Amino acid sequence: MTIEFDGRPVPAEPSQSVGAALWSAGIRSWRTTRIGGAPRGIFCGIGACFDCLAIIDGKPGQRACLAAARPGTVVSSGLGGAPGSARPATPPARSKAFAAASEARARSEAPNRSGALAAARHDVAVVGAGPAGLAAAATAALAGCRVVLLDSAPAPGGQFWRHREGEAGNHGYRDWSVFSGLRSIVEERVDYIAGATVWFAGAERAPTSQPGFALHTAAGRFEAERLVLATGAYDRALPFPGWDLPGVVTPGAAQALLKGSGVALGREVVVAGAGPFLLPVAVALADAGIRVVGVYEAGDPGGYLSRPGTLATAAAKLGEAAGYAAALARHRVPYRVRRIVVAAHGTGSVSGVDIARLDRHGQLVPGSIERVRCDAVAVGYGFTANLELALSLGCSTRVGADGGLAVMVNADGQTSVPGLFAAGEVTGVGGALLAVAEGELAGAAAARVVATEPALSRRELAALRRRGARLREFAEAMHGAHTVPAGWTAWLEETTIVCRCEDVTYGRIVQAVTDLGASDARTVKLLARPGMGWCQGRVCGFATANVTAMLCGRAVRPADLAAFAHRPLAAPVPLGDLAQG
Ligand SMILES: Cc1cc2nc3c(=O)[nH]c(=O)nc-3n(C[C@H](O)[C@H](O)[C@H](O)COP(=O)(O)OP(=O)(O)OC[C@H]3O[C@@H](n4cnc5c(N)ncnc54)[C@H](O)[C@@H]3O)c2cc1C
Ligand code: FES
Repeated sequence: MTIEFDGRPVPAEPSQSVGAALWSAGIRSWRTTRIGGAPRGIFCGIGACFDCLAIIDGKPGQRACLAAARPGTVVSSGLGGAPGSARPATPPARSKAFAAASEARARSEAPNRSGALAAARHDVAVVGAGPAGLAAAATAALAGCRVVLLDSAPAPGGQFWRHREGEAGNHGYRDWSVFSGLRSIVEERVDYIAGATVWFAGAERAPTSQPGFALHTAAGRFEAERLVLATGAYDRALPFPGWDLPGVVTPGAAQALLKGSGVALGREVVVAGAGPFLLPVAVALADAGIRVVGVYEAGDPGGYLSRPGTLATAAAKLGEAAGYAAALARHRVPYRVRRIVVAAHGTGSVSGVDIARLDRHGQLVPGSIERVRCDAVAVGYGFTANLELALSLGCSTRVGADGGLAVMVNADGQTSVPGLFAAGEVTGVGGALLAVAEGELAGAAAARVVATEPALSRRELAALRRRGARLREFAEAMHGAHTVPAGWTAWLEETTIVCRCEDVTYGRIVQAVTDLGASDARTVKLLARPGMGWCQGRVCGFATANVTAMLCGRAVRPADLAAFAHRPLAAPVPLGDLAQG
């Protein structure tokens, strides 16, 4: 099929995203930033960063990485010409024929089933249909609860089991049988609503005066006695000179393009950052025939050996890592540790990166920089939890072993708010298997009051809790081996962009602290505007909080991180929906 981009035809495949179709056609950027006029295209690939905004079928501010390409979809950069141009956007006029076509499409896509479901009150609502949310919904439903499962994505599976719409087979995904089992329970017993982003969640009192929760989505308002948040995470990025060049993306974006749309990130790709997630990304790219120039890991997997007891209980994880190592060797992809991307170069799009060595303390080794040629880079340092809904409902948080903020829960996923549970990456990054275990525990706990029968026997519960604790311990060892390098701020230059949305440079943050006297991240945000753009600090929050702490000569505080995680609305919402909500 064909879509239209700035008046020219672009080929697209069914179930590809608009962003993936543009990327596949070699279009790397289609908007410019508000202040600096810098080109932006795909960066996070999963809807967190807002870099890929476009005018789609006449609607401005659409995330091209989330929007499905359909025959006749009309995409405009709003630049009135060449993508990457620095001219500010003026939305093009809609032709009458185009307006009629897109309105007809909007009518045919209007939520159908969800209208009636939204009116009914459920026992348990689950937000997020990734490994944790699917497990929670299935467990609560098997206990006899009436469950609604709401998810932004067009298909269940979350980030781990991301697949193309309508795809049913295995396609080499890990633990696909677990997914198939959960999906069939959900299909049979759960009111599952795809494409339903919850933009606001509130604690409410129902007519029965039972405490409950109300969830606002474009598909309507849903109420439930109990709520499980399984909203997952997105890649954590650190700034470096040139990281905003088109072609520099997160590993999650590389994965989403490939798994979700069958599109290759580039021809010669560098995979870098920290964490075991770099391995499946590099292997998936290499398996797809892309030349992976190298995997550059900032941490040191030797760090796992400092916790031999934990390793002994994680035979499956070791087997998985060995499988990836063998695949990299087969594809002749070098895996180099204590290496870091310190700069990206290129005109219009990335054409090479500088890789430097790190010493045992995470500091740059002087004179160790080497230039590596590539046409795309996937770089990320673990994940940041999607906390908006949890924070707006008042959940207490903690700083996890990876230095990020996470929802505080007990062993069964109970948060500090009665009736509200959380599971998966939102409670601390630990991988899909841990997310499933936590989802089952949270689903069982949420069902306990309202269910007709216990979701799990005492023995099953005890075994699940032990399994969850073991996997969480392994996750902590993992974070110890793949930390954000202590010296990462050394490669920032005065002109390095820290906030991609608002073009805030490192120099402006230094100025806010040293000249204007800011001593916490919130004040830096108010004075220099990092975190005030489209993504509301999702991308620049961790970096700004840490840079602020470093400039103030102290460790980062939870309040610094929280300054960028509180968002009254979890997603952009049209004024009409807001008025109705
Ligand atoms: C981009 C990306 C790719 C990844 N790929 C891999 C991989 O290949 N292999 C691997 O081992 N690990 C991978 N991971 C790590 C992986 O996320 C976890 O191990 C696992 O998926 C966590 O499960 P989860 O259920 O906690 O969260 P997720 O799988 O992230 O699921 C969360 C779900 O919540 C939905 N959601 C979030 N906010 C809202 C809202 N407001 N309203 C409605 N829905 C919402 C999201 O759409 C998503 O479907 C990836 C992570 C990311 C970010
Ligand atoms: S990067 Fe989006 S607000 Fe800073």
